[in-house]
Amino acid sequence: MSAHPSGAATTYRVGPVSRELARAAAAALHAPSVLNTQPWRWRIVHDEALLYADRRRRLATLDPTGRLLVLSCGAALHHACVTLAADGIAFEVDAQPRDDDPDLLAVVRYRGTAEPSARVEQMRQAIGSRQSDRRPFADRPVPDEVIERLCRAAQRTDARLHMVWARNLTDLAVAAGEAADAQLSDPEYRAELAAWLRAPGEGHDGVPIDTLAPLGARPVPVRDFIAAGTQAGISSRMAVADRQARYGVVVTDGDGPVDWLTAGVTLSAVLLTATAEHLATSTMSDLVENEVARGTLRRMLGGVGYPAIGIRIGLPGSGAAQPRSPRRPAAEVIEVVADKVSPASGPA
Ligand SMILES: Cc1cc2nc3c(=O)[nH]c(=O)nc-3n(C[C@H](O)[C@H](O)[C@H](O)COP(=O)(O)O)c2cc1C
Repeated sequence: MSAHPSGAATTYRVGPVSRELARAAAAALHAPSVLNTQPWRWRIVHDEALLYADRRRRLATLDPTGRLLVLSCGAALHHACVTLAADGIAFEVDAQPRDDDPDLLAVVRYRGTAEPSARVEQMRQAIGSRQSDRRPFADRPVPDEVIERLCRAAQRTDARLHMVWARNLTDLAVAAGEAADAQLSDPEYRAELAAWLRAPGEGHDGVPIDTLAPLGARPVPVRDFIAAGTQAGISSRMAVADRQARYGVVVTDGDGPVDWLTAGVTLSAVLLTATAEHLATSTMSDLVENEVARGTLRRMLGGVGYPAIGIRIGLPGSGAAQPRSPRRPAAEVIEVVADKVSPASGPA
């Protein structure tokens, strides 16, 4: 409190709209992010939620341009928007970059109320249950109509989901191999990866080692997080697991920061829809981190658009529930600026 010329004390308070926006920002803590870096900050000012990139959390070797950082922020933005929509809030999103503040990625503006749809309520519920599942999926195919619903979820955003045909699985496996060869032979990459691995129950960020999958032969290898370098490809004599996994690639028209943010929105829309459909998913950015591997993916797409991120999709295997990855405390990530209440007008 401070003194007002009239003698009355000035008070501050957080209004109901700010509180609603802060709740959405808190739900966005559940969003997936590269190596669970959670590289975003929210500032709630009156009826606006400002989403900032937290570049201190950028992965210098794995993500030198900050593409995956911005993509992660896009996933957080989508989680917040789903929460607002499910809460019956109408809003607008302004995602135009500002020259004077390149870290400000998006502004979400409160615009009154709106009737929530059943679809958005399902997605909101999926926020609490979605998690990356890197283990081999069940040996049963994902029904085509479910895949179509995932593509439609992507179509409602500004990027698209390209589902990889069986005949292109070799391209995907080649890209994964190219990425692994380049990255695992780079000591800086290995050190960065190791720095973000966590013991079970340790800390608020990073990838807990008990959420990693056992290595083994798969048609398309997944990232070798412990950099053991012992993953076998399809030529291995080991039994090949994960044969029914489907792969999607989020594709954007351009390759700038707004496109990366858009790709994160699309990633989140697909992951949440898949979770609502009782599918298991994991995200694959190794395919696009290395330029050679990304080039292989681009050729697979016929040179149309930019591959932003890969998604592995399947029916969950029969294993026990996985431990959940930790999240940062809301107070570290969300700042709510209180409104000044004028003594003359009194509290609204
Ligand atoms: C941009 C981005 C890139 C990611 N890359 C990978 C990856 O290459 N391999 C992987 O297993 N998970 C990847 N993930 C998933 C994250 O590791 C995961 O979201 C994070 O550890 C939190 O765990 P959760 O998804 O279970 O909540 C990525 C996620 C995002 C958003």
